[in-house]
Amino acid sequence: MAKLWDKGTNSHTEATQLIENFTVGKDRELDVWLAPFDVLGSVAHIRMLESIGLLDTTELTQLVVALADIYQAAQSGNFIIEAGIEDVHSQVEMMLTQKLGDVGKKIHSGRSRNDQVLLDLKLYMRHEIKEVVQLTTALFEQLMQLSDQHKNTLLPGYTHLQVAMPSSFGLWFGAYAESLTDDLLLLQAVYRIANQNPLGSAAGYGSSFPLDRQMTTDLLGFERLNYNVVYAQMGRGKVEKNVAFALGAIGGSLAKMAMDVCLYMNQNFGFITFPDHLTTGSSIMPHKKNPDVFELIRAKGNKLQALSNEILMITANLPSGYHRDLQLIKENFLPAFADLKACLQIATYMFQHIQIKEDILKSEKYKYLFSVEEVNKQVLAGTPFREAYKNVGLAIDAGNFDPDQSIAHTHIGSIGNPGNQQVQQKMQHIVQSFDFASVTQALDRLWEL
Ligand code: ARG
Repeated sequence: MAKLWDKGTNSHTEATQLIENFTVGKDRELDVWLAPFDVLGSVAHIRMLESIGLLDTTELTQLVVALADIYQAAQSGNFIIEAGIEDVHSQVEMMLTQKLGDVGKKIHSGRSRNDQVLLDLKLYMRHEIKEVVQLTTALFEQLMQLSDQHKNTLLPGYTHLQVAMPSSFGLWFGAYAESLTDDLLLLQAVYRIANQNPLGSAAGYGSSFPLDRQMTTDLLGFERLNYNVVYAQMGRGKVEKNVAFALGAIGGSLAKMAMDVCLYMNQNFGFITFPDHLTTGSSIMPHKKNPDVFELIRAKGNKLQALSNEILMITANLPSGYHRDLQLIKENFLPAFADLKACLQIATYMFQHIQIKEDILKSEKYKYLFSVEEVNKQVLAGTPFREAYKNVGLAIDAGNFDPDQSIAHTHIGSIGNPGNQQVQQKMQHIVQSFDFASVTQALDRLWEL
C-alpha cells in the first residue's frame, strides 16, 4: 500500500516491508485512540484553509460531511487503521480521498504529521484529563464523607511504624482527600501547558502559506497558541512527560493509600475490613480474605509514577526538531489514563463499602499513644515541658503509666477540628478553575459551517 510520502519510485518491496513493520510498530493499534481527535483537528485545519483561500466553500462542506462520518465511526469504535496504512493521519486522508477524490488530497496543505500527531495528543490529553478530574473528585467526595462520618473514631498514629500518637479515621480519610487536592492543582498546571495549540508548526518550522493559527486555536478551544513553531514541536514529549508526572502524583496518593489499607486490613492491625465479596480468597487457605484490589491499585499507582521517568529517558538527549523516538511515548502514555481511571473508580467503590473498627485504642498495647497528651496536661498545669516529659518517661519506665484517654485536639487540622470545610472549598476552587466549559463550547461550534 502506498505511503503518504511514497513518490512511486521504490522497487525494493521485501526490504520496504521489513522496515515498515519495524517503524510502524504498534502505531496501528495505538493511533486508533487518537482517531476522534485527529478528525477534530482536521475540521479546524480545513476551515482555516478555506478562510485563507486554499479550499473553496463547496470543498469544505464536502470534507466536513465526510469527516463527520469518520468521527462517528471513531466515536463508536468502528474506526480501524488498515493493514498497509501507516498511521491514523494516513488512514483519515486515505478515506477522504477514496470518498471524495482529489478534494481529499487537499487537506494536508500547510501541515505535517508532526504537528498533526502533536495536536491529536494534546486534544486527547485534554479530554482524558477532564475525566480524570471527574473521577478524582468522586473519590475525594467519598473520602470526605467518610472523614466526616468517622470524625470521632480514634486510630493509632505511627512514626517509624511504631505506635506514636492518637489519630483518627477522620484525619486518615481526610488526609488522602486533601492529598488529591494538591494532585489536581498539579494536574491543572499541566492541563494548561497541554491546552496550547501547536497546529501550524507543521514539520516544526511553520509554512509559507499564510496560515491563520489563531483561528484554529479558537476553533479548538485552546487557551492560546504555542507561538514559536520550533518550540511547539519541542513540546512533543515534554508535554506528555509533564502530564505523566501529574498522573503519577495521583497514582502516588492512591498507592500510599492502598498500602495503608493493606496494612490496616492485616490481622495484627485489624482496623478496617471489607465485605467478603469485595476481597479475594486463596486456592489453598480457606480462611483467606485478601486485599487484591488494593494491591493492584498500589502497583498501578506506582507504575504510573514510573511513566514520567520512562518518557524522560526516551527524550533526555534528543535535540530540537522531530524524531521518530517520540512515537514510542504513545505506547505507555495513551493507556495510562485508562489505568488511572480504573483505579480511581474501584477505589471509590471500595470505600463505599469499607467497615471501620470502633474502640481500637481501648487495647492495652496503644496506651503509650497518650504519653504526649499526659505531658501536655502537666504543662497546662504549670510544669515546664522538659520536666513533664521526664516525669511521664519515668512513669513509663517504672510500669505505672496509666493515662486518661480523653483527648482535646482543637487547632485547625487536628483530630477535633480537621478543617474539612476548608479542604472542600479548596477542591471546589481548583475544579472550577479548569474551565472545561469553554473547550466544550468551542468543540460544539466546530462543526457549524
Ligand atoms: N507515528 C508518528 C509519531 O507518532 C507520526 C509522525 C510521523 N512523522 C514522521 N516524520 N515520520 O511520531
